[in-house]
Amino acid sequence: MFKILKKEELSPSVFSMDIEAPRVAKKCLAGQFIILRVGEEGERIPLTIANFDREKGIINIVFQVIGASTMALAAKEAGDSIVDFAGPLGQPSEIKKFDGTVVVVGGGIGVAPTFPIARAMKEAGNKVIAIMGAKTKDILIMEKEMSEVTDEILITTDDGSRGIKGFVTYAVQELVNRGEKIAQITAIGPVIMMKSVADATRELGIPTVVSLNPIMVDGTGMCGGCRVTVGDETKFACVDGPEFDAHKVDFPELMSRQRMYRDMEAEEKDHICR
Ligand code: FES
Repeated sequence: MFKILKKEELSPSVFSMDIEAPRVAKKCLAGQFIILRVGEEGERIPLTIANFDREKGIINIVFQVIGASTMALAAKEAGDSIVDFAGPLGQPSEIKKFDGTVVVVGGGIGVAPTFPIARAMKEAGNKVIAIMGAKTKDILIMEKEMSEVTDEILITTDDGSRGIKGFVTYAVQELVNRGEKIAQITAIGPVIMMKSVADATRELGIPTVVSLNPIMVDGTGMCGGCRVTVGDETKFACVDGPEFDAHKVDFPELMSRQRMYRDMEAEEKDHICR
């Protein structure tokens, strides 16, 4: 059993939890993820690690309530436990000193997994800029934490209530316009956002990585649930990823698979809430 040490509501329906998981915390690296199960009967939930404290043996996760399983997780409180917390899984981010500025782009709760990447990139000696996007200012998360590990933050909101009005791609364009020499962008967030960033940076010639979080079942490359097409090759996000070259990902296929699962999840949530 894995104990929940702390629970915080970051914005409506978005929660942060500190989980006691010393073995995961000892080994995990930026960009990796865990798969948890709330109870014996529960579905497996893949979540990219938002933060870790090796000494205290704590992993921080950030999740949004979108279906039955995340609803069950959100119902847990500090002091409660969850049955499974497997990890670290997947390949870590490529962290090195780049020839130019490193930009992390987080949309919605995608900001959370960009945090350990930004921190590791900074520790590797890079200039790091974070672009954080949200629908409105009230649901921006982790701004303070991100400001502590980056050189600059650009905020975008759909309604213009904070920062640049519009999408995260506007902020990327702003950096390009002012002559920032961007060596790499890592974008994490809704698939449609990652696709937009990929389309924009392809034209701008900026190497871009996205972290994919499709449906996962076993997390070991055996079930095929997390299959994605990257550069005409079939890859499994759980073992080959979760990060891939954004310019090679087949986003239309990924979006259609996600739609299928989302409908099933909505039905299940409906069933539970009735
Ligand atoms: Fe089963 Fe990746 S989750 S192959």
